[in-house]
Amino acid sequence: MDAEHRSDDRRRDTNPLFNHRKLKLGTFCTNLSGGCTMSEAEGMLDCDWPSTTRLARLADEMEFEALVPVGRWKGLGGTTDFNGRGFECYTWAAGIGALTKYPAVFATSHVPTVHPIMAAKQGMTIDHISGGRFTLNVVTGWFAPELEMFGAPFLDHDRRYAMAAEWITVIKKLWTEDEEFDFVGAYYEIKKGIMRPKAVQTPHPVIMCAGASPAGREFTARYADIGFTALEAHDLDSMRARVDAHRKYAWDQHHRDIKVWTNAYIFQGETEREARDYYRYCIFEKGDWAAVDNLVSIMGITSQSFAPTALARLKEHFMAGWNGFPLIGTKEQVVDGLITLSQAGFDGTLLSWPRYIEGMEEFRRETYPLVKQAGLRD
Ligand SMILES: Cc1cc2nc3c(=O)[nH]c(=O)nc-3n(C[C@H](O)[C@H](O)[C@H](O)COP(=O)(O)O)c2cc1C
Repeated sequence: MDAEHRSDDRRRDTNPLFNHRKLKLGTFCTNLSGGCTMSEAEGMLDCDWPSTTRLARLADEMEFEALVPVGRWKGLGGTTDFNGRGFECYTWAAGIGALTKYPAVFATSHVPTVHPIMAAKQGMTIDHISGGRFTLNVVTGWFAPELEMFGAPFLDHDRRYAMAAEWITVIKKLWTEDEEFDFVGAYYEIKKGIMRPKAVQTPHPVIMCAGASPAGREFTARYADIGFTALEAHDLDSMRARVDAHRKYAWDQHHRDIKVWTNAYIFQGETEREARDYYRYCIFEKGDWAAVDNLVSIMGITSQSFAPTALARLKEHFMAGWNGFPLIGTKEQVVDGLITLSQAGFDGTLLSWPRYIEGMEEFRRETYPLVKQAGLRD
């Protein structure tokens, strides 16, 4: 039986991802150099412990629900070697979990880099450190050079999800079964598997997946509690249709009620003009176009699969904030954008800023009171 249908589902007692706030909020990629912005502009995020903990504390003070690190083992090159310096996700989550009180602390885990017994044990440990706020973000990987560093073959796309299905099945068994079990699959063989103690969250910690392909969506519907979806269009109707389709698929195929989140980037100014000028400066004057070219070519996105103007737009969104929803303008316009995401049916959104620390401090001071006034945090 699925976690959310079990009478012993106590996760909402400790994990804020299940709170009743209209639009939940989180930070994205505070563990890597550059954060979410591919730019040589001054003030981009550095990978150092004081910076990442400052951002976690700001999120904690605003009672953000999610702190989501990105799993990255090698930079994307370009003039900034985007995301090339980074903290490993489980150990990052353990440290951040000890320093914060409220948000869910995620570990983003590339399936082939961690044995499921190790992943289950580390996740359980972080759940204890954080008092029941651990969340596992399952990623199968798409950046071949970083996974090839591990010396294992990079499987084709759908086999990566087949492996992930076994991986998460073993983890769930370790998290929930009281007796030793055997497991024999195509990718893993477990002999008399057992894990004690269990996590704080029962029946097990929350699971997230951001798979977008049919195989990724099927994995999310079947195993995850939260699905993340990147957006192809930003108008209300298209976004609403996307959220509905994600939820409906999970319900129709597996009778599971999943939460749906997205990510957004904030370029805020005193005036809309100021915000747009700064956006132009970061992307068109100082943007790391070589890094984004590497990114789209590794992802297999070409001018054959996208019209040239659409491809240029996509690159812009990737450079500005990992292809998130654009929130560019005054504080009021940023809040309007968040209202639109809520109206589209999203349960939550991750946020990022180009000058991450400065931007988030300004958000707390200037914008967050308006977010609350708008009723998004009720
Ligand atoms: C919010 C979010 C977080 C993600 N985090 C990572 C990550 O940390 N590492 C990674 O390699 N991929 C990450 N991805 C990529 C997804 O795991 C996934 O591979 C991608 O959306 C393509 O879907 P597919 O795997 O079904 O083809 C993320 C995607 C989103 C939208």
